[in-house]
Amino acid sequence: MAATRKSTLDDSFYQAADVFFKANSKLGLTFDDITLATLYSEVLPRETKLDTTIADGLQLNIPVISSDMDTVTESRMAIAMALNGGLGLIHYNMPEREQLSQVSRVKYHVQGLIQEPIKVAPDQLIGDVLALIEQKKFGFSTFPVVDAQGILVGLLSGHVVKPRYAAKKVAEALTPRAQVHTIRKKELGKDPIARADKFFTEHIGIHKLLVVDDHDQLLGLITMSDVERITQERKAQFKPARDAQFRLVCGAAVSATRNAFGELDRERILNHAGALMERGVDVIAVSTAHGHSKGVGDMVRVLRDAFPKLPLIAGNVTSAAGVDYLADCGANAIKVGQGPGSICTTRMVAGVGIPQMTALYVCSLAAKKKKVSILTDGGITKSGDIVKALTLSQSVICGGIFAGCTEAPGDVLEISGKLYKHYRGMGSLAAMKSGSAARYGHEKADTTRKLAAEGIEALKEASGPVDRVLSQLIGGIQSGMGYLGAANLAQLRDKARYIRVSPAGQREAAPHDVVELKTGN
Ligand code: XMP
Repeated sequence: MAATRKSTLDDSFYQAADVFFKANSKLGLTFDDITLATLYSEVLPRETKLDTTIADGLQLNIPVISSDMDTVTESRMAIAMALNGGLGLIHYNMPEREQLSQVSRVKYHVQGLIQEPIKVAPDQLIGDVLALIEQKKFGFSTFPVVDAQGILVGLLSGHVVKPRYAAKKVAEALTPRAQVHTIRKKELGKDPIARADKFFTEHIGIHKLLVVDDHDQLLGLITMSDVERITQERKAQFKPARDAQFRLVCGAAVSATRNAFGELDRERILNHAGALMERGVDVIAVSTAHGHSKGVGDMVRVLRDAFPKLPLIAGNVTSAAGVDYLADCGANAIKVGQGPGSICTTRMVAGVGIPQMTALYVCSLAAKKKKVSILTDGGITKSGDIVKALTLSQSVICGGIFAGCTEAPGDVLEISGKLYKHYRGMGSLAAMKSGSAARYGHEKADTTRKLAAEGIEALKEASGPVDRVLSQLIGGIQSGMGYLGAANLAQLRDKARYIRVSPAGQREAAPHDVVELKTGN
């Protein structure tokens, strides 16, 4: 039996990482340059486990992180990522105070609770409400009614939001406060969804539950349809990523802020990092284009000395020496990637950077010795790339793949009937002017010379909610693991066998010689 599972002939073509990458050491290889060989399997894709440890105290249920970019991760994206088992890194192109509130929004997110429901005022006209629904394209027409102080005064039911009542005031049409079902936030307990579910079962025909504080200030709204969807999702294979207190996990990026003398502004950095930790941040990322540099190392040391237990991500590097350096400075997880990103121009502008698979292999050897983890940052365009990346790293960080999602910051644009969202490199001129210049070694206030952009501004096709995008990616990762007989990510790293692909082989890998009607998703 065992003889059918392994063949020495296969081993001479499809090689383990140590043999393969050393034999190809003269060439920088990226995802499409290689393919993985199938192996004997007893593993069904849907049974594979995807949990991964990024640092002591930071475990994710899926190995996917959304990038700390200002067109990718703010609180909505971070919430969606954590609910799906991953992690979002909130970018730093915003005032420090704003970043703190964004982290709080994630940490205090109660699933199913719409924290800022659309409200109307008693003296508005029903006609105004109809215009609002039309203008914002709301798919609902029932609204809580609050006074100028935010105190609940009633509920405007969809039954009365009709053109025939357009001239009437909301105050005349609302269901008065005494008849509106509410619950105090503290009564929601540890499992608000179970509590709301019980409420909806006990109150036939009621579909909305308003959440208030002790003074009747409106704090949020829970809908029956959300509760039903979430109850269904709880049966899903990958649970939300939570901290020890059952709050969603959240990461934040920080910049290497300097004072007027060009020195690291230790006090400001420590104050901000301390405030992030008070808000419950689970990991801080020191995100720069060149992590193997004194400034970044100093910054990591400052944070490590002040917060010995805080999980720290740092980067980016593409060399073993870079990994050694950041690990010695105190980083737990190191971002690998210089110039692979979909909006990056570092390789063209600066002429530096290493294709991802080669960089990952080199960095993974150093990481193993230093007992730190490796995060593949940039260049992921499809689930197959993630499978390849995970053969050498503990997680991937994606920007472009999530930039078109509903939860990414920014509005949807319509161009020639197609929907898009903005996506820009943090090294693009516009992003650097909004604050990310330090990431690329420039000063924001530097007016004496032109900043050399290392990224572009672009559009991504709108791709719908993160849930949908992630379910496609996760399905692909699990499928890849099934082909390799890997029940978990450690087995995937252990079992992977590689071979290079010729240009014709690359063409063969994509749909060809057909007229495509529909893409896979
Ligand atoms: P993807 O391919 O997922 O890449 O869109 C996202 C990653 O790219 C990095 N990044 C940049 N790199 N110039 C660069 O050279 C830039 O302007 C830039 N902005 C982001 C970053 O590591 C991100 O996670």
